[in-house]
Amino acid sequence: MKRSNWLSLAVSLATLMTMSTPSVMGNNNETAAIMFLDEYNEQAMVEYYKDVAASWTYNTNITDYNQEQSVAASLAASNFENGMRTRALEFNQTGFSENTKRLLNKIIYIGDAAIERQEDLVELTNLLAQMETRYSTGKPCKEDGTCYSLEPDLTRIMSESRDYQELYWAWDAWRDEVGAPARQDYARYVELKNIGAQANDQPDNGAYWRSWYEVDNLEEMTEELYTQLSPLYNNLHAYVRRKLYEVYGGDYINLRGPIPAHIFGNMWAQSWLQLLDLCIPYPNKPSVDITPVLIEKGYTPLRMFEVSDEFFTSLGLIAMPEEFWNESMLEKPNDGREVVCHASAWDFYNQKDFRIKQCTDITQTDFITIHHEMGHVEYYMQYKDLPVPYRRGANPGFHEAVGDVLSLSVSTPKHLHSIGLLNEVSNDEEADLNFLMSMALDKISFLPFGYLMDQYRWRIFDGTTPESKYTEDWWKLRLQYQGIIPPVTRTEEDFDPAAKFHIPADVPYIRYFISFVIQFQFHDALCKAAGQTGPLHKCDIYRSTEAGTLLSNMLKKGSSETWPNAMEAITGSRTMNATALISYFQPLITYLEAENERNGDVPGWPESYTPADPNFGVTVQPSTAAIFLCLFFILARIF
Ligand SMILES: *[C@@H]1O[C@H](CO)[C@@H](O)[C@H](O)[C@H]1NC(C)=O
Ligand SMILES: *[C@@H]1O[C@H](CO)[C@@H](O)[C@H](O)[C@H]1NC(C)=O
Ligand SMILES: *[C@@H]1O[C@H](CO)[C@@H](O)[C@H](O)[C@H]1NC(C)=O
Ligand SMILES: *[C@@H]1O[C@H](CO)[C@@H](O)[C@H](O)[C@H]1NC(C)=O
Ligand SMILES: *[C@@H]1O[C@H](CO)[C@@H](O)[C@H](O)[C@H]1NC(C)=O
Ligand SMILES: *[C@@H]1O[C@H](CO)[C@@H](O)[C@H](O)[C@H]1NC(C)=O
Ligand SMILES: [Zn+2]
Repeated sequence: MKRSNWLSLAVSLATLMTMSTPSVMGNNNETAAIMFLDEYNEQAMVEYYKDVAASWTYNTNITDYNQEQSVAASLAASNFENGMRTRALEFNQTGFSENTKRLLNKIIYIGDAAIERQEDLVELTNLLAQMETRYSTGKPCKEDGTCYSLEPDLTRIMSESRDYQELYWAWDAWRDEVGAPARQDYARYVELKNIGAQANDQPDNGAYWRSWYEVDNLEEMTEELYTQLSPLYNNLHAYVRRKLYEVYGGDYINLRGPIPAHIFGNMWAQSWLQLLDLCIPYPNKPSVDITPVLIEKGYTPLRMFEVSDEFFTSLGLIAMPEEFWNESMLEKPNDGREVVCHASAWDFYNQKDFRIKQCTDITQTDFITIHHEMGHVEYYMQYKDLPVPYRRGANPGFHEAVGDVLSLSVSTPKHLHSIGLLNEVSNDEEADLNFLMSMALDKISFLPFGYLMDQYRWRIFDGTTPESKYTEDWWKLRLQYQGIIPPVTRTEEDFDPAAKFHIPADVPYIRYFISFVIQFQFHDALCKAAGQTGPLHKCDIYRSTEAGTLLSNMLKKGSSETWPNAMEAITGSRTMNATALISYFQPLITYLEAENERNGDVPGWPESYTPADPNFGVTVQPSTAAIFLCLFFILARIF
């Protein structure tokens, strides 16, 4: 959990202030400014600790009381930030060092805390808590009275079932439960967030979120990257579409159209790893799925975290401290407590308390998530001695990338075999393609989703998408980028975006898209530092302290410099660049192109298409296969 998210709440100023222009009589004494910054730092650690602690209590035990306490703590932290902002604005920064200016400005631009009217801020803070509680406690029920949590119940149905109707039930019930009911709240949230953005000198909240990247053209930058990557996605999409066609048939899949959204093994069709068994190029080669081994060997969540920790320390990085092991929530509690299951990593700002909260399931997906969350904690620990305003990622995408970079090494079959998580490996081209397919189903499948989530919200915040088009525009983007359609018609009564955590939880998303690109740049650079010369997808930086040092030198800088500097320090380049990702997947790209051509499958989804209604399915509408079977028997009798 990032400070910029939970902390974006505050009590208002009674007085109006001019934000960006320091007062004419501004204090131009830098020594005084530095003394102020020291005082800020001491107090911020105390104030933020209280806020994070209350938020942790609520997140690990959702009750009305804990929600109220968390809202109160959040408002107190905002009041603190607002008071400090007022004082920071009293300085005339002319002639100050870059460092002093940078720190002062980070205390001046404080997100929602800058909202002027107290009632607006209180309303927003409560709205956020209400939306998060609805999402985290939602449990749709069947007619027999059985109710299903998202984690683990619905997640398991989505990943394990191949029954079109059952999948549809889980997909639709979750959206009815937490999507549609959030619609009114969300519309109000948008208004209030825009008020906050304007108090930070930005035209709307999308622009405010983008401002964290400190570049003018984030939209063009990300669009360019997506354009470079979309052919990979479209090739994978066409390949997977045929595999799904073989399972579900022509009633549900058009080989030249988009695919129903609920059959990808994932509630949001954002990772397709659960389709690996259908998609594996060479099924007779040893498996690359570690889930069965984790179960067979009796892995517990704790042991999975220990394996991850060992990888970090093998690079010479900082081990998780005793507080982490004592206080983290690594499993879903079974004492009846409601918790926010969505995995997150926590910095308590007191330089020693760092935690993870995760409802860990014994699966490959969760093993990867563990490394992801540990990456956040590693970043927190590396920059813990910096002034509080610098305890952030170089940009939010950097924070998301750290653990994933390590996962790229951990996931290689050779590494998994060496730590006993794969029973056998084989080292040839076919085995390579199996492995790359598993990576592609996790990484390439995600790219359009990672890209469109904030395309969607940027347009809502800037007014391009009015409330009357919330559903229409969501599905337009889902079709345009992901090539997927809802299994049944959606209307403006629905609000499917709120069925994804980051929408009700107010967490920006473009960071994940950026992370998925730059993690391959980082991997490339660390592999070179580790002296690895083979193909990128075979590189494992395990035990390379050279790679670890290169990484930690960047992590230690936090956000004290702009991200192009941090990027340059690690990769030698100042730009985001998809070349490393493409080169990692090159053998698979070649394979997918050839397979699609062989099958006559054309990437893309030019034909508009409405799949058969899942509520009736084959019982009402005979499937194509059934018609052919009937025809066959009729013909067989005649001739
Ligand atoms: C800030 O200080 C500089 C140098 O002392 C002065 O020229 C400038 O007018 C001041 N700016 C404001 C906005 O007070
Ligand atoms: C600048 O501020 C410091 C700390 O308050 C003070 O000791 C010093 O005298 C001030 N310098 C000037 C020129 O006012
Ligand atoms: C959860 O919070 C409530 C207060 O709302 C408290 O009474 C209860 O003991 C807490 N449960 C746990 C397990 O901490
Ligand atoms: C708000 O902050 C001011 C200092 O800026 C402090 O005096 C006041 O006690 C704070 N109020 C609350 C409710 O925390
Ligand atoms: C962690 O828990 C153990 C056992 O309860 C305790 O002895 C130890 O003091 C705790 N360590 C910290 C740093 O809280
Ligand atoms: C991207 O990186 C590659 C090397 O990894 C380099 O050859 C290429 O010029 C870069 N492209 C851009 C646009 O920076
Ligand atoms: Zn994360």
